[in-house]
Parts: sequence; structure tokens; C-alpha cells
Amino acid sequence: MCGIVGYMGNQDATPVIMNGLKMLEYRGYDSAGICTMDDGTAEIRRSSGKLINLERLIKDKPLSGTIGIGHTRWATHGKASVTNAHPHKSGSVVVVHNGIIENYLALKDELIDRGHAFISETDSEVISHLIDEKYELTGSFEKAVQLALKELHGAYALCILNQKDEKTLIAAKSGSPMVVGIRGDEYFIASDMPAIISNTREMVIMEDGEMAVFREGRVTFFTITGEEIAKASRHVDWSPLKAEKNGYPNFMLKEIHEQPQSIKNVIAGRLLDEKGDVFLEGLNLNDCELNSFEKLCLVACGTSWHAALVGKYLIEEQCRIPVDVEIASEFRYRDPLISGKTLVIPISQSGETADTLAALREARGKNAHIVSICNVVDSSIARESDGVIYTHAGLEIGVASTKAFTTQLVALYLLAIRLGRANGTISQEKGQEMIVELSGLPAHVKKTLELDPQIEEIACEYLTSWDAIYLGRGISYPIALEGALKLKEISYIHADGYPAGEMKHGPIALIDREMPVFILAPNDRHLIKVRSNMEEVITRGGKVIAFCSEGDQETGRRAEFTLKIPWAGEILSAVLFAVALQLLAYNFAILKGKDVDQPRNLAKSVTVE
Ligand code: G6P
Repeated sequence: MCGIVGYMGNQDATPVIMNGLKMLEYRGYDSAGICTMDDGTAEIRRSSGKLINLERLIKDKPLSGTIGIGHTRWATHGKASVTNAHPHKSGSVVVVHNGIIENYLALKDELIDRGHAFISETDSEVISHLIDEKYELTGSFEKAVQLALKELHGAYALCILNQKDEKTLIAAKSGSPMVVGIRGDEYFIASDMPAIISNTREMVIMEDGEMAVFREGRVTFFTITGEEIAKASRHVDWSPLKAEKNGYPNFMLKEIHEQPQSIKNVIAGRLLDEKGDVFLEGLNLNDCELNSFEKLCLVACGTSWHAALVGKYLIEEQCRIPVDVEIASEFRYRDPLISGKTLVIPISQSGETADTLAALREARGKNAHIVSICNVVDSSIARESDGVIYTHAGLEIGVASTKAFTTQLVALYLLAIRLGRANGTISQEKGQEMIVELSGLPAHVKKTLELDPQIEEIACEYLTSWDAIYLGRGISYPIALEGALKLKEISYIHADGYPAGEMKHGPIALIDREMPVFILAPNDRHLIKVRSNMEEVITRGGKVIAFCSEGDQETGRRAEFTLKIPWAGEILSAVLFAVALQLLAYNFAILKGKDVDQPRNLAKSVTVE
């Protein structure tokens, strides 16, 4: 999703900005652009597609200047094209924008009536026109930005230059993330710390409704109503992770294979074997506080929402606490029933998903206590929570989440142990058993990864299918949803996940000789029922591919293909089924020649709603 980098200092701005934009590439984008200012002239380069295209353009037509702004765009309003790429220039003002201006059509009509001519189809272009117009009226860059911001509804992170105030850069934020890095009298502005952390570790986190004015080696922070505010920087001591494929053909396969290690990482230092308990360093709640909540509310988007669904099965069953699971984009607008007695748990790999962040703020407004499960350290969601359980999955580059998902499942398992131990629903002995099962999980994941050749065979067999159904019961139902999502995301094959028992209420009408039905049948208490559902499919001529547990001789007998997955206990086997389904989606996509790391239209970090 859109990324912003700005620079003001004494170095050539272009390499600083381009390096920063490269660090934001993983968020997903479809065009890019940069503007530098030299001697009062703003020079812009923009290109569609990947950053390499912009690099080529800059090589042909070099830029100069020690002040500049750059952008990677993920199209929302207006297709991915050079014209719609940022920066946008109107009069003397140049803008890059992350977010969505919801009232842009009304603003655009008014601006057109006042004689402005628009070049792009974007919502963002109204911002440069507005600021330019206000600047012509007031002669003050800051004032012009403040007046323009008052008219905007929606979300924005902005970096703005003005040819007529050539030594100034203004940044502003409301709803989209933005940080400022400081190194002496040099300033680095970005949507995400990793874009600038190689330059400095002194960071100022900008809050909604704030703007920063960088002028001749100084920065001053204001509210957007013009009051000066003091903001302290903080030293960030984590190191940026390097995006390397380590010999794998793509990041997704690397990340799938990293799961034995990432699961070790999320467990590391947290197991109290003797006590049958776990230590969650960032939870910040003692037993008494943990027991004071009437319910839990897990809120997330996409794959993280599937993890939340698994969390509901797991926590309600093990800890006997009611758990609501909410899609963040719904939760934030429906006045949810939560209170100070609710423990709200946003789950997010990136920690920047706009809807999940907004849901967190909605919950905060209702006095809920917030403990997030995040992968990215110091992300907005992590920072705004009362406690954080980090998943330590490491950098995930593949847009389709893999290791982030399985580490979320393990984090939820750890949380279940802690909650159960605190409220007495998990005995010391039971806690010890759960810990033993968890400690064996990385080895089971490794064995599951060895099933890849068989999984590839399955993908080959059903490669021409346009649709697929995934069925599961109990904890396997959200895993079926996740399997179907993975297939959709990277192979573009339409797929739906269903609770197996619900199939006869609709999806059964779809069963024919063309439709592969992937049935998740671990050796748990639902197995007999799932076998019956499988029969219902076979009876109607459907093609069944059974994913069952090692040692199960029965389930696969009537299936076209059977995959035997290691057994890691009733709960943790779900992680292994998830891994097998990741490999299935991966093989489909690779055999179809798709770009698994950057599937069309998707973004890794969804910072607009
Ligand atoms: C995007 C990504 C998904 C991810 C979802 C939620 O849609 O493509 O892989 O699951 O956002 O992201 P989060 O960072 O909040 O987990």
C-alpha cells in the first residue's frame, strides 16, 4: 500500500529517498514517483510498475537537490498509470499522499469552478490544488497547509514541497502512519520506520492531527490548527531485518520453510515447563487483572482474522471465557458492545492495518483494555496497545501471509495457556501437557513441509479447475477458510471455505465432476462427522481430496487423493494443516506461472480503509 519517504538535509536527496522507497516495496504498490527541489525548481519523475522503472528514468534524467519527497502508490482512486502516480504538482506545490480523501469529488468540483485544471483521476490531486490556492491567498506555506487540511475528510499522511518556499518541507498526518527520523540537522520522513532506520535511530512518531515543518535544519511541530507543540524523539534499538531469499526462488517459499524456526522464535523464553504455564513479557496483566475480564474480543482483517477465529475455538474451549471475533472494518462502525470489562485483542502482522488500528481506537474509546498480537515491533497497533504479544516471525515479504499466520496461532495458544492457568481452567498438569505438545510442533512442521512433492502432484491434477471448496469442522473450519483464501490470493482460482456440516445448506449444489473439494479431516472428535460429509460429496460425483492425519487408514479410502499430515494433538494439528494448505496454494500458483510474492491487486500493509 502507498508508502512515503521525505528527506531534508545536506546529502543528495534522491538516493536517500529511493533507498527508503525500496524498504517500503513489500507493502505492495503499482507505481512510484519522486520530486527533488534545487534552486527553487521542483523536478518530478514518475513511472508505473516497479521501482526499477523509476530508477531507469532517473538514470536517464538525473535529479539534484538536498530536499525531496518520494512515493509508492497502490491504486485506489484512478488506475495505476504515470499520470496518477505521485507526486502531484499544482502551481508551485508538490504533494505525495497516503490515504483516501473521502470528499475529493466535492472539493474537485469546487476547485474546477474556481478555474483549476486537473490532470489525474486521483483523490490526492485536490490536496496540491487546495494548498496552492491557499498559498496564493496567504503567502504562508504553513498557513496554506493548515487551511487546506481543514477542508479534507478522510485519511492522510502527506509530504509537501513548495517551489516558492524552496527550503521548506511540510509533513502532516491524520489516520495514516508517519514517522520522522532525526540525525543532527538532517530529517528523514517515512510511512514506516524500516524505510529510514538505516539513517537514524532517533524517531519522532507523529500523531493524528499533527504537522511538522522542516526549514533550514530545524523542525517545528504544530497541531493542524497552528499551535506549536513539543515532541520528544525516542531511540529505537531494534535492527531492521534484511529481505533476502537465501537461495529460495521467492519469498513466499522461503517464508513457508522458515516456519519451524519462526515457531521456535515465538515460543522462545516463554515456556515455564515446570509450572505448566507461560510467561508473556508484554502482556502486562497479573492473574487477578486477567480474571477480571468478562469476555475477550479478537479483532483483525484477512488472514489475521482467520487466526482470530482459531483463537475463539481454542480459548473458549480451553479457558471457558466468551470470545467474540470481529472483522475490523465492521467492528469500527457498528458501535460494538464492549466495555472496561472487555479484553480486546487486535491481531495484525504489520501492526499498521488501517481498519484494525481504527477498531483498536474504537475499543479504546469504550474503555476496553487492549493487548495486541503483532509481528512488527513498534508498529502503530503495538504502540497504541496496553500490552503486546509479539509473534517474532521476522520480516514477512510475501503478500500472502504464511509464517505470520502460524506464529499468530502459536501466540494464541500461549495466551490460552496463560488465561487458563490464571482462571484455573487449565491445571498445572494440563498446562505441562500443552507445553510438551507445543515444544514438538517445529519438528512436526518440518515433517509436514516434506510432503511438498505429494502436494505438488495434487496441484498438477487439479490445475485446470476454476473453483474449489475447502471443508472443515471445529478448529479446521477457520483453517479451511485460510486455505481457500491462500488459493484465491496467489493462484486466482476461486475458492470458498465452509464448515463441513453447513455444506448441505447451499454449497452442495456446486458439487460436480469439475470441482475439487479439499476436506480437512484430522483425527479429532469431528472425524466421523467429517467422513459423512465426505460421503455426501462423493455420492454426488464430487472429487474429494482428503487431508487426514498420519495413521488414519480409513478416511482416504474413497478419496481421489489422500495426504497424511503428522499428528500434533487436537489443537496444534491445525497449524500443520495450515502449512500443507499454504504449500497447496503455492504449488497451484507456481504451476500457473503466477507471481506468488506480489499477487495482482493485493497489498501487504493495508494502510487505507
Ligand atoms: C492484507 C494482506 C493479508 C493480511 C491482511 C491483514 O490483506 O495481504 O495477508 O492478512 O492485510 O494484515 P495484518 O498486517 O493486519 O495482519
